[in-house]
Amino acid sequence: MLEIKTPLELIGEFKRLDSIIDFNRPRIELDMGCGKGRFTTELAKRYPEALVMGADIKLDRLRKLNGKAARADCSNVEALHCLGWELFGTQLPDHTIDRVHVICPDPWPKERHRRNRMLSSEFVYRVTRKIKKGGSLHLATDDLPYLEWIKTVTSQLPFLEPDQSVLADIADVQTEFEMNFATQDKPVIHLGFRVLA
Ligand SMILES: C[S@@+](CC[C@H](N)C(=O)[O-])C[C@H]1O[C@@H](n2cnc3c(N)ncnc32)[C@H](O)[C@@H]1O
Repeated sequence: MLEIKTPLELIGEFKRLDSIIDFNRPRIELDMGCGKGRFTTELAKRYPEALVMGADIKLDRLRKLNGKAARADCSNVEALHCLGWELFGTQLPDHTIDRVHVICPDPWPKERHRRNRMLSSEFVYRVTRKIKKGGSLHLATDDLPYLEWIKTVTSQLPFLEPDQSVLADIADVQTEFEMNFATQDKPVIHLGFRVLA
């Protein structure tokens, strides 16, 4: 069984994740809110030379990710038990990730719950600071008002350029939630962005 790293333990120490994980890899992918890890594992299979991190606050889901990765013989997966805010605060070094995926985050559709949404402009700003120049960001949701919210938030960041070509290599991969939504005829819309600076 693969290990689950808990960066939460690093809070207050200003120790970064690259002190407990080898970041010296030709490519680094991060699936934020990875859930049960279908997508994370598929990425790890496609890019065996890469470090593929799956991050989630739910431990039971990370155990499922590790189970899938072990069955697929992927030793390049790291399961991170953490909160998005902390991960994209001090825990990740700046400008080190090639591509970050945030797929079907909880949309918190009601206006009064809006502040619970993962994708605030501050959060997206923090995420992009962790991505290499020329790297990319992948955001996806089934929820149309949330999609509009994402477009508003991303348009406020001048160093993010919409670019669907950054998703070409994974256009055929579906997450668990995406597969569930497909059975309900709810398409998930994927947005790709290039990080310019
Ligand atoms: C709707 S699920 C989608 C899971 C997966 N991306 C998929 O599409 O199948 C959202 C996931 O994000 C995680 N999550 C939500 N907010 C989070 C946060 N602030 N920090 C870490 N994980 C979070 C949840 O625990 C959950 O597993």
